[in-house]
Amino acid sequence: MTIILGIESTAHTFGIGVVKNGKVLANVRDMYTTETGGIIPNESAKHHARVKDSLYEKALVESRIKESDIDAISFSQGPGLNPCLLEGIKFTKELAKRLNKPVIPVNHCVAHLEIGQITGAKDPVLLYVSGANTQIIAYASGKYRIFGETLDIGVGNFIDTFGRYAGMGFPAGPKIQELAKNGKKYIELPYKVKGMDIALSGILTNLKQKLESKKYSMEDLCYSLQETVFAMLVETAERALAHTGKKELLLGGGVACNSRLQEMCKIMCNERGAKFFCPERPLLVDNAAMIAYLGGIMFKAGIKVSGKEIEKLDIMPRERTDDILVKWK
Ligand code: ATP
Ligand code: FE2
Repeated sequence: MTIILGIESTAHTFGIGVVKNGKVLANVRDMYTTETGGIIPNESAKHHARVKDSLYEKALVESRIKESDIDAISFSQGPGLNPCLLEGIKFTKELAKRLNKPVIPVNHCVAHLEIGQITGAKDPVLLYVSGANTQIIAYASGKYRIFGETLDIGVGNFIDTFGRYAGMGFPAGPKIQELAKNGKKYIELPYKVKGMDIALSGILTNLKQKLESKKYSMEDLCYSLQETVFAMLVETAERALAHTGKKELLLGGGVACNSRLQEMCKIMCNERGAKFFCPERPLLVDNAAMIAYLGGIMFKAGIKVSGKEIEKLDIMPRERTDDILVKWK
């Protein structure tokens, strides 16, 4: 029996998760939000410092475990925002020292992928669409390879920036989804796909100009934004499925909460006989259960940092998915 406590702090969300032998016992989180304007890293880090102790207590209560039941602590080492990651590693080190437990450093993006196993995916292509990250990832000979990605900004940041221009506050994704439902007219936007990569900043500029021209309704703009950009994502994901020969598509990241994106992915998978997997919302957005889950897999493979070595651990703000040697497969 292995109980792992996971800690997530890469950006706007601070979370604590508890996973016992691959089963999620607790997944508590608190998110830094704003009424208007985007995420300010230092403010988000202050938020994390404010909520961490109460979330920790809440996770213990929810999972009905005692501190002494914990076998190891895993944490998001990167990628992410420096001040936010620093809060997470500080909390991890203090806890590990106090409880005298080993630590497992986890890559946040790989955690989004591995948690897909909970939905039954075995060897999927992951369409990972969050704020900062937009990548198409799949496992091939010892590493998670990035087959395609955004050449400029992440799709969530793209959505949130458009939302900010339109005065929506952060995060804008859910609001845009609602507005898009009432869109009636498709407005032509640039479509930027290069092989398995996409580019979004040109579309953002175009949308901003359309917004400023006041010629279009907000509903039609949101609808057209979703139809265009999601079609680009689905096209590249399909190309990755064809290229790798894999038969499963998994969604990950906050933007994957979008029901229209899910629908478009499902249609594409049906058409090519692939299986579609999408974790439920609490495991899709940034969360600590996925960090504990991957921590558990790595722990089982003997990967951990103990004793004095823990102090030497550092954050990896720019760590890439394909930097990670997957020793647990
Ligand atoms: P990462 O650190 O992995 O880059 P992140 O910190 O941005 O991720 P997530 O929680 O994975 O965090 O994703 C947040 C993003 O998801 C925000 O940009 C938000 O606007 C977007 N989002 C949330 N719900 C929806 C939705 N229904 N439709 C579109 N986008 C959404
Ligand atoms: Fe994420």
